[in-house]
Amino acid sequence: MKCFVTGGAGFIGSHLVDRLIQEGHSVTVYDNLSLGRESFIQHHYSNKDFKFVMGDLLDFELLKLSLLNFDIVFHLAANSDIVKSASHTKIDLEQGTIATYNLLEAMRSNGIKKIAFTSSNVVYGEAKKLPIPEDYGPLFPISMYGASKLACEALISAYCHNFGMTAWIYRFANVTGPRITHGVVLDFYRKLEKNPLKLEILGDGKQAKPYIVVHDIVDGMLFGIKNSNEWINYFNLGTEGSTCVLLIAKEIIKVLGLSEVKLGFTGGDRGWPGDVARVSLDMSKLSGLGWRPKYTTSNEACMVGLRLIIEDLKSRDIQDKQAELKLNH
Ligand SMILES: NC(=O)c1ccc[n+]([C@@H]2O[C@H](COP(=O)([O-])OP(=O)(O)OC[C@H]3O[C@@H](n4cnc5c(N)ncnc54)[C@H](O)[C@@H]3O)[C@@H](O)[C@H]2O)c1
Repeated sequence: MKCFVTGGAGFIGSHLVDRLIQEGHSVTVYDNLSLGRESFIQHHYSNKDFKFVMGDLLDFELLKLSLLNFDIVFHLAANSDIVKSASHTKIDLEQGTIATYNLLEAMRSNGIKKIAFTSSNVVYGEAKKLPIPEDYGPLFPISMYGASKLACEALISAYCHNFGMTAWIYRFANVTGPRITHGVVLDFYRKLEKNPLKLEILGDGKQAKPYIVVHDIVDGMLFGIKNSNEWINYFNLGTEGSTCVLLIAKEIIKVLGLSEVKLGFTGGDRGWPGDVARVSLDMSKLSGLGWRPKYTTSNEACMVGLRLIIEDLKSRDIQDKQAELKLNH
């Protein structure tokens, strides 16, 4: 396949690119590097089947010119910082909804018919049923990020219906693993790096979400594409159960070998306005097709991911320091 990957220099996108290249596909990454890193994709630069376009989805002309002759678009680019968007109300409208509209328009004018989209479990809002199945409704997201993801799903549906496109929509759990760019483990790691004696936890620490390791999410996405062919294919993509924030805090303290850490809580039952405090996903739709993640429970995935993240952050910090030293000389 000739694949176009928006956000391919980001956390999940770069792992997807690794896997697509490994499977022999050709890949063009379109990314403005606002949140991603060139170092996540640089190892492919010498590969003739790989191309990087440094571009913004809001630059419609460049997008249209770059998006010629592809079999499928993997659309991952978005604002991924859900906490920040609680106070910056335009970010998700622009980087999510309008960016997705531009992409669909560029696909329509260039005759590209297949799209895989990375949505999120936050489209369900505060669901009254746990674990949440894909046909749960009505969908009332409680964050700007969730509202934008749902708007993107709606736009994709309308484009599929009107212009004969096919879509695979994945409502992700929280994704964990190397090259992570945001999220609770990164937040805790950076806080403990600054002050190993104190850790501030947002909310009451009881918030519980499902976690999945990044290699499993990539595997699930590709499995879904190979094994479903409706005009709109939509799946929860995660693991069984959920993992609470306090458990993650205790585990990171243990893995870092710290002992005297005083835990503080900002209080309230959610981490930030728009945070859905309790989530678990019904995975029976994808598992009914025969897919299982390597790490099947959220706790298992979360603990494996946490160790992978710490290992990766340590080596990334060393590389960053070396690059900084090189620049200064
Ligand atoms: N990480 C998770 O836990 C999680 C959970 C649910 C859904 N998702 C979704 O999965 C996708 C990938 O997430 P991620 O964790 O890899 O995030 P990420 O921030 O690491 O990657 C997003 C990439 O998109 C790029 N980008 C952002 N705006 C752009 C624009 N206007 N034009 C071009 N490039 C742009 C960024 O530079 C970055 O490389 C996102 O759509 C995110 O909303 C992620």
